[in-house]
Amino acid sequence: MARPKNDTFLRALRREPVEYTPVWLMRQAGRYLPEYCETRKRAGSFLQLCKSPSLACEVTLQPLARYELDAAILFSDILTVPDAMGLGLYFSEGEGPRFERPLREEWAIRDLAVPDPHDHLGYVIDAVSEIRRALDNSVPLIGFSGSPFTLACYMVEGGGSADFRTVKTMLYDRPDLLHHILSVNARAVTGYLNAQIEAGAQAVMIFDTWGGVLSHRAYQEFSLAYLQQIIEGLTKTHDGERIPSIVFTKGGGQWLEAIAAIGCDAVGLDWTTDIGAARHRVGERVALQGNLDPISLFASPAAVAAEVRRIVDAYGGGTGHVFNLGHGINQFTPADTVTTVVDTVHQHSRQLNRQLNQ
Ligand code: CP3
Repeated sequence: MARPKNDTFLRALRREPVEYTPVWLMRQAGRYLPEYCETRKRAGSFLQLCKSPSLACEVTLQPLARYELDAAILFSDILTVPDAMGLGLYFSEGEGPRFERPLREEWAIRDLAVPDPHDHLGYVIDAVSEIRRALDNSVPLIGFSGSPFTLACYMVEGGGSADFRTVKTMLYDRPDLLHHILSVNARAVTGYLNAQIEAGAQAVMIFDTWGGVLSHRAYQEFSLAYLQQIIEGLTKTHDGERIPSIVFTKGGGQWLEAIAAIGCDAVGLDWTTDIGAARHRVGERVALQGNLDPISLFASPAAVAAEVRRIVDAYGGGTGHVFNLGHGINQFTPADTVTTVVDTVHQHSRQLNRQLNQ
């Protein structure tokens, strides 16, 4: 299958030469876009939107119609995997995601099984195929999943949490039970990502949103070890092209070297790490993705552009940087500010690379 016409994102991840820094935004299809809200209303709910491949395809393309983004990301959610395991995902207004049957009892944990991605998650795999067809090789498509630990947080807590009291208590009291959940999750995520790759995902990203709440020792044992298992089990090439993988641990800035060593192609950065120092620390091993503070997008266009230029300069030009936010875009972000971000990344990095090549 042909490479996308704009493959800058894939080249940056593989650390091949690029003319400019590619950019996409976490949660780029979302509530800050009025057209997203309109489609979600038509779908009836967020979950019905995820479960309809044609509507998921429609919202995936919405940000690409507005902005010169260098990649598309599958529209779905990380919590579809535990939903497919039978935990009963629902979203209640103002409360975020919840599970009807959180994992608390030992028998339920022992009963947990790896879902067949083509069966219970078939709607996601169908969405990947449909989006690839609709993109028509314009830009690459990113597939994704949650990390085993981040999924376990929601599965055990039964929803979001301020202190992760239930899952952390399990970690300290019954590490065997948590390890069992993580092991099932790691196999589920590997199969799920490989099915997305088979259906046409050209890069994959693993969101470890809550790995950063762990102690230094616990991070290695309960999050990173399972991320490594997934990376080792991923399909590395498809249709003759390498499928790069991105690992993002929010709050993981102090563990960059360890993350870079598990075999992924790129490491995601939140906004708390200096990207120039991070580049120095990981050297030639991996590419970096990030690291604009999503809340900076509420500032004036001039201030936003200055902050974008600061990050592009801090990285220092050349390949190996995918510009992104340090976490998902806030729902109240003014949509026009995203134009400022995307255009400033492109213009400023082109200029910087021209200077470096002189
Ligand atoms: O990046 C993209 O555009 C792809 C779509 C995407 C969504 N969720 C859509 C979504 C991705 C990659 C995710 C990942 C996800 N989901 C994560 C990991 C990344 C992160 O943000 O930390 C997590 C922790 C979840 C779980 C989840 N889903 C939460 C906590 C929430 C509620 C928070 C909120 O913003 O309301 C969701 C809902 C969700 N997932 C929305 C979207 C667009 C908003 C739902 C809506 O339309 O009402």
